Amino acid sequence: MTHAATDHDTVRVTPGAIPEAPYDVRIGHGILASLGESVARVLPRKRRNQPAFLVVDDKLPDQIVSTATLSLEAAGFAVTSADVAASETNKTLASATLLLRQLASTRAERTDPVIALGGGMIGDLAGFVAATYKRGVPIIQCPTTLLSMVDASVGGKTAVNIKTDTGLKKNIVGAFWQPTLVLADVAALASLPARTLRAGLAECLKHGLLCATFDIETDLFDWTTTHVRKILAKDAATLRELVTRNVRTKAAVVHTDPHELDPNGGRAILNLGHTYAHAIEPIAQLSPTADPADAPLQHGEAVALGVVAAAHASAALGAFHVEHAELIRAAFAEAGLPTRVRALPSDDALLEAMSHDKKASGGVLRLIALDAPKSGDALGRCRVVNDPPRAAIVAGWDALRG
Ligand SMILES: NC(=O)c1ccc[n+]([C@@H]2O[C@H](COP(=O)([O-])OP(=O)(O)OC[C@H]3O[C@@H](n4cnc5c(N)ncnc54)[C@H](O)[C@@H]3O)[C@@H](O)[C@H]2O)c1
Ligand SMILES: [Zn+2]
Repeated sequence: MTHAATDHDTVRVTPGAIPEAPYDVRIGHGILASLGESVARVLPRKRRNQPAFLVVDDKLPDQIVSTATLSLEAAGFAVTSADVAASETNKTLASATLLLRQLASTRAERTDPVIALGGGMIGDLAGFVAATYKRGVPIIQCPTTLLSMVDASVGGKTAVNIKTDTGLKKNIVGAFWQPTLVLADVAALASLPARTLRAGLAECLKHGLLCATFDIETDLFDWTTTHVRKILAKDAATLRELVTRNVRTKAAVVHTDPHELDPNGGRAILNLGHTYAHAIEPIAQLSPTADPADAPLQHGEAVALGVVAAAHASAALGAFHVEHAELIRAAFAEAGLPTRVRALPSDDALLEAMSHDKKASGGVLRLIALDAPKSGDALGRCRVVNDPPRAAIVAGWDALRG
């Protein structure tokens, strides 16, 4: 018997020995002034008056933008800049199209760089533009918020949002496109509003609570809690160490699972606190303080609440201690982040909101749970718990009420 439909030839294509090349993340104070020479050094082919397309956050102080531009020009680049307003509603295909049109009019070729100068919104949008223009041109990330230095600029995720019948779907259209270089100048944080800095610090504390899972930076949580005052005061050396330690952590996680394909660990662990955070982030009236005018929650504020909730849920699962969960709450509170929230919806409504994440992960509610440290060890070991019992999830929400 013959099976004509299954009769075929197969040619296996191995696109490259190193499909995603390694890249450096440079961290320092005042290093934006060396952007031009740093970019020239990492480009495959450098020519005179090479176009460089600079995508700029329009809220940045002029001095940051001119430092970057002058440095690129001094290194022989012909710079074209595009100012973009950093908001989630502007992180769209329409914004990408506008940038792609401008980029095309510079006659940029495959080896000409796009340079993102701004927070994570700018990095994701410019990264997406670089990933798609001529099927991919080099993207250089110059993050200017703490969150984008320690998280968004590293790991190659680029994306835009789209609106559907059920609301704004964040980061649903995008590509993995690794940067050619990341240059994090902590001097840029000088102009960052205190609340935005704290929101970034929430992700750093989160890294401190998961790093030991990857055997990296195992004292990060303790180090961060000890240095909170200096971080909030924007002490240059402390910020530099903070960013370096967190980039090392993110890099180690990304290395284990570059495309977030491991359902039981890897990149998914970075979602510690996020199953809870995503459920409360869209609720417009929730405020991080007693003042309703401070609503809505910023992402990092929702993460702070989410990590506290996840710690209490972990305790309810029996794998973690309530005292440790309270220690974590105290650390977030010390950093000026919310650890309780008024007017939280009912458990049913919150569980319903969490089920949106569940749909996104194949019908499974995936909680990143904390494990109790072994005697003498610091906190920082996590694992994935699929479909935890309702009582454990609710224990997390209960910890945030009041
Ligand atoms: N790609 C990833 O892996 C990844 C990871 C985490 C978050 N993200 C994305 O990152 C975005 C959030 O990034 P974010 O927290 O940096 O927010 P953001 O880019 O929206 O910036 C926050 C605010 O700070 C302003 N700003 C930026 N730098 C400044 C500076 N130096 N001085 C003064 N103001 C400044 C911006 O104009 C904006 O108003 C989201 O879109 C999120 O989806 C991506
Ligand atoms: Zn986050």
